[in-house]
Amino acid sequence: MALFDWEPKYSVYIDEFDKHHQKLLEQLRNLHQSMLNGQGKQVIGDILDELKKYTQYHFNAEEEKMDELNYPNKEEHKAKHKELISQLDEIIDGYKSGSHQITSDTYQFLNNWLTKHIMGEDKKYIPFFKDKL
Ligand SMILES: [Fe+2]
Repeated sequence: MALFDWEPKYSVYIDEFDKHHQKLLEQLRNLHQSMLNGQGKQVIGDILDELKKYTQYHFNAEEEKMDELNYPNKEEHKAKHKELISQLDEIIDGYKSGSHQITSDTYQFLNNWLTKHIMGEDKKYIPFFKDKL
């Protein structure tokens, strides 16, 4: 499996959220490919901004469902989302200010950043959302 490929084991059995996760991986793949193609700072900056925007959109969608159905672990899950956003912010700010490069370590980090959250935290809501969504 290549980096940023969606795998069936990532499924949370909610179509909407699986699609969001696939789209996030697609954006990460696009970031990686654009860097390999030697795209400039403006283009890469825009891709990073889009990634942040879509991440926020996806987290909001999950959190709205959690609020609506009163998911018992919602506060814990929201805190994890906050942490992920601030990690993403750090990467984006570092890149834009020139203090940090995006390297193969960064891609590995971003791959884990998303997939570990899916496997560790998102998987926990499956039994709760099942039959409700
Ligand atoms: Fe989540």
